[in-house]
Amino acid sequence: MHYSKKDIENLDRITRLKIINSVTGIKPANLIGSIDCEGRTNVAIFSSVVHLGSNPAFLGFISRPRTEDVGHTYSNIMENEVYTINHIHPEFVKNAHYTSGKFDKEVSEFDRCGLTEEYIEGFKAPFVKESNFKMGLRFREKIEIPINGTVMIIGEVEDLIIPKTAYTDDDINLEGSNGIGISGLNTYYSLTKLVRYPYVRLEEVPEFFN
Ligand SMILES: Cc1cc2nc3c(=O)[nH]c(=O)nc-3n(C[C@H](O)[C@H](O)[C@H](O)COP(=O)(O)O)c2cc1C
Repeated sequence: MHYSKKDIENLDRITRLKIINSVTGIKPANLIGSIDCEGRTNVAIFSSVVHLGSNPAFLGFISRPRTEDVGHTYSNIMENEVYTINHIHPEFVKNAHYTSGKFDKEVSEFDRCGLTEEYIEGFKAPFVKESNFKMGLRFREKIEIPINGTVMIIGEVEDLIIPKTAYTDDDINLEGSNGIGISGLNTYYSLTKLVRYPYVRLEEVPEFFN
């Protein structure tokens, strides 16, 4: 199958959304926890978390255009500047998926979707207790993307909590931490470690076509 720009534009909205949301391949599966100034907690699923740099340790995520019902994560981060990013695991993937519902601001998805708030000393935003791989972040910058009304939120990792099983052979092992991946907006994959290669030095690259 070959879709031209015209074919893509002519797809019905739902078909286009399903296809284009999946074409990047596997995306990371995270729950973002946040809290507003009145202490109301929020947790929602996001697949757009991306690594921006290690020193300082910056992560970004894309927040889609805000509406009356959507955008509590964004507004909480603007109010309190701290939030958490928590890996999703198979045991609570269904609960995590439910957090994408358009719940009222007064409703905490922690309660409504069967997830547990967890706090660490000195950090205001809630972590997801069920997650074994989680980070506390402080908001550093936002970049508006006018072409489609989305915003990239950039934060610095201040706390990193990982299980021993996720750090083997001097490397992060996402199979060991029971990480999962997302395709589109509905499909979840388990992760199997395929292979690990050393840093590429040009003199070590073999000749492939001789
Ligand atoms: C698998 C999946 C991935 C999602 N990824 C994102 C994302 O990266 N950015 C985003 O703005 N919304 C994403 N959403 C939608 C949000 O989860 C949804 O809009 C949610 O209601 C936002 O909650 P909030 O208003 O409490 O922030 C995703 C939904 C699903 C099901």
